[in-house]
Amino acid sequence: MTPLLKTEGLTVTFGGLNANDGVDLIVEAGSFVGLIGPNGAGKTTFIDAITGYVPTSSGTANFDGHDLSALKPHKRSQLGLVRTFQSLELFEDLSVRDNLLVAAHPARWYTLVLDILHLRQQTPEVDARVDWALEVVGLSEQADVLPTDLPHGQRKLVGVARALAPQPKLVLLDEPAAGLDTAESSALGDHLRGLLNHDITVFLVDHDMGLVLSVCDYIYVMDFGQIIAAGTPTEIRTNPDVRAAYLGEETGEAQTRYAEELHDLTGSEDER
Ligand SMILES: Nc1ncnc2c1ncn2[C@@H]1O[C@H](COP(=O)(O)OP(=O)(O)OP(=O)(O)O)[C@@H](O)[C@H]1O
Ligand SMILES: [Mg+2]
Repeated sequence: MTPLLKTEGLTVTFGGLNANDGVDLIVEAGSFVGLIGPNGAGKTTFIDAITGYVPTSSGTANFDGHDLSALKPHKRSQLGLVRTFQSLELFEDLSVRDNLLVAAHPARWYTLVLDILHLRQQTPEVDARVDWALEVVGLSEQADVLPTDLPHGQRKLVGVARALAPQPKLVLLDEPAAGLDTAESSALGDHLRGLLNHDITVFLVDHDMGLVLSVCDYIYVMDFGQIIAAGTPTEIRTNPDVRAAYLGEETGEAQTRYAEELHDLTGSEDER
């Protein structure tokens, strides 16, 4: 099988720090792949590098037969490589639906003003894609409200839906479950898993270990910019290097968070 996304030796350097350090990673078409790791491991940097938001210092990235290195972010999204952002960046003055309409044409990011003026004249095809994206994340009934009027959990879902509106081949999600409670996270997982039925491959970065372990087919674990483990959810749960990476953290707040994540890892193991 040809990988949809493949990186070899991908390295991103900030000053003297290798935020990504020789990352070899494969995402097969039609699969659901996770990337986990402690705070500062380099997960967002990886998404930034793949989508062209930070330059790579060495290594290669190939998407759907295209060498990505020379391509600007909007070219990459035109190829079907679309991301969400860890920090929510919605247009607060536009309705949920209009937030998606603006994103439905990746080529038009630079003519945003025109888009806004012509929002009501979108083609039926674009309308259908926006309706579909809203339905996928369960936001059809919130289409006409402003994002500011939604609870945090649903605002996160608007960000996911916006990434889906262009109907990408691969969607890279950076912590979509942050701020969601367990029930919302589980519902999100069901929606995301359903994307595979729409020929959308999913790459998920999240700290919600329950979500990652339950929805992913394959999981990479990053620490200090390097992939320290990779495998099925079952393999990751029992991998000693993974547990060491989570236990090795020393600062108080982070330690509490990792303890919870570790509990997810261990708890799931104990339940079996
Ligand atoms: N633009 C930048 N300039 C300099 N250093 C950066 C930049 N972006 C990230 N870093 C550093 O690179 C490392 C990796 O950061 P990154 O945000 O990729 O981690 P992360 O795994 O996404 O963490 P989190 O789980 O907290 O989101 C960190 O040490 C961070 O401080
Ligand atoms: Mg991050």
